[in-house]
Amino acid sequence: MKKLDNSKTADNLHSAFAGESMANRKYLYFAKVARKLGNEEIAKLFEETAHQETGHAFSHLELLYPSKDLTVERILELAIEGELYETNQMYPEFEKIALEEGKLDAADEFVEQGAESAEHAKIFEQAAKRFKALTMVEKYHATKYQKALEKVQGDSEVEITAKAS
Ligand SMILES: [Fe+2]
Ligand SMILES: [Fe+2]
Repeated sequence: MKKLDNSKTADNLHSAFAGESMANRKYLYFAKVARKLGNEEIAKLFEETAHQETGHAFSHLELLYPSKDLTVERILELAIEGELYETNQMYPEFEKIALEEGKLDAADEFVEQGAESAEHAKIFEQAAKRFKALTMVEKYHATKYQKALEKVQGDSEVEITAKAS
């Protein structure tokens, strides 16, 4: 994701966001493990804590991407950017290294998830296109309505002037 600015704090916010996000997923995973091991109480504890970690991650995101500055176009753009980075850069590089190191399971998973990132990018791109088209249609209707309104107002002004004279 793009940086807020070049400050050390922006870097730290990114790291803190990554850490809290990871804690969230890790605790949900641990909850599943605990449940599988028959410990419902610990499973619930992990789930509750995971929920709080989401809140922590969102607080960091709010500083990195203030919601008041975001639009539908922008969030789709950010999502596409991230998915394309994963599919075009990150996973191919990770796959190459995994193959060099003989970690075939990891290499397979990188290929699989790289393809899924491409699929996600495509879905977001389609949504962005649909949103753009919808905005254009709405703008067209708004202009048409405004013109009709102006005409009605113009007509009634003429009427009032005619009555007054
Ligand atoms: Fe936390
Ligand atoms: Fe994805």
